[in-house]
Amino acid sequence: MENLISLVNKLQRACTALGDHGEESALPTLWDALPSIAVVGGQSSGKSSVLESIVGKDFLPRGSGIVTRRPLVLQLHRIDDGREYAEFMHQPRKKYIDFAAVRKEIADETDRETGGGRSKQISSVPIYLSIYSPNVVNLTLIDLPGLTKVAVEGQPDSIVQDIENMVRSFIEKPNCIILAISPANQDLATSDAIKISREVDPKGDRTFGVLTKIDLMDKGTDAVDEKDGLGLTSGIRARLSLSSKVKPIVKRAEYPAVVVQGILEGRAYKLQFPWIGVVNRSQADINKNTDMIAARRREREYFANTPEYKHLTQRMGSEHLGKMLSKHLEQVIKSRIPGLQSLINKTIIELETELSRLGKPVATDAGGKLYMIMEISRVFDGIFKEHLDGTRSGGDKI
Ligand code: GDP
Ligand code: NA
Ligand code: MG
Repeated sequence: MENLISLVNKLQRACTALGDHGEESALPTLWDALPSIAVVGGQSSGKSSVLESIVGKDFLPRGSGIVTRRPLVLQLHRIDDGREYAEFMHQPRKKYIDFAAVRKEIADETDRETGGGRSKQISSVPIYLSIYSPNVVNLTLIDLPGLTKVAVEGQPDSIVQDIENMVRSFIEKPNCIILAISPANQDLATSDAIKISREVDPKGDRTFGVLTKIDLMDKGTDAVDEKDGLGLTSGIRARLSLSSKVKPIVKRAEYPAVVVQGILEGRAYKLQFPWIGVVNRSQADINKNTDMIAARRREREYFANTPEYKHLTQRMGSEHLGKMLSKHLEQVIKSRIPGLQSLINKTIIELETELSRLGKPVATDAGGKLYMIMEISRVFDGIFKEHLDGTRSGGDKI
């Protein structure tokens, strides 16, 4: 049976490809109902780095300022025939094996939609990128513009609010899983990712917290502010929320790691799902062109060899993050099949009504597309039914 994640991927692409003619149909509603994972976080929190680690490839545009200006729907497909390539939906016949060219095309396609130049506008029209690789798990992630507090060089002040609104419009959908990225070297109380996800998911039922830059904590780069008698800053106290357990004999340089340990162990800033710590490539690593697969290995070694995190190794790191998200997304899709089916059926009925209004045989382009959407919906309905039957009979056929 076809993998559920790739099935939803296809449905997502079909909705987008045909959506411009389907305004009167339920297509946009169907897109919104499809389970997805959206990546949110402040600028420079490490979003791009986390995505690249999960993919095991260097392919995202980077730089200062607002680099991600359109949502990027990243569909990962695991293949084991030794090939590794990427494809954009807007260039159906072109296969990319050079990932530097992928990076350039993301930037170019962003400019095509937003006008480019120096205005640096944002647009909520997604770019679809599929990556086929032996180093990925089946997974779909939506990269969103980074939350920011100030507009930069030539950007209108409204961009700050526009970005926040766009991010919110994705993550407020009940079927959206939120990957909230926060850097460990900043006070979590001020994390943009946590702030906005709490707004739309107060109980943390669908939020996964990711803590980046853990390696920077050892070096004592934690923000130092007013300290109490133990030498703990108020931010650290807040994060630990168990000040009495912190022994005053801990050397000052060790506080940061203790704080991160508290979060990763689930003692502070608790969400429904355990926090996941990652160590991405530093700027120096990027400048040196450190290989992504080598970086993954180093990340594993970091957790295994750091006394504070050693016992957590099994559930830390970007490889674990990718696998865990893939499993979770599949479960969520499975649990949503009945809802998706009734939505698809509603779509079919609406399309039938619309088609009969247009009159058959359908000659117009719009009619042709509607007819196609209806046929596609029927196919999906059938496949979902199969999955549902598979689930009911208790067999794990997926
Ligand atoms: P984004 O703006 O959220 O996409 O952030 P980036 O992924 O571009 O990361 C911003 C900067 O932080 C880059 O220079 C990265 O190299 C660095 N960075 C991200 N994650 C880590 C990490 O886990 N450890 C270290 N040392 N640096 C990191
Ligand atoms: Na943040
Ligand atoms: Mg980025």
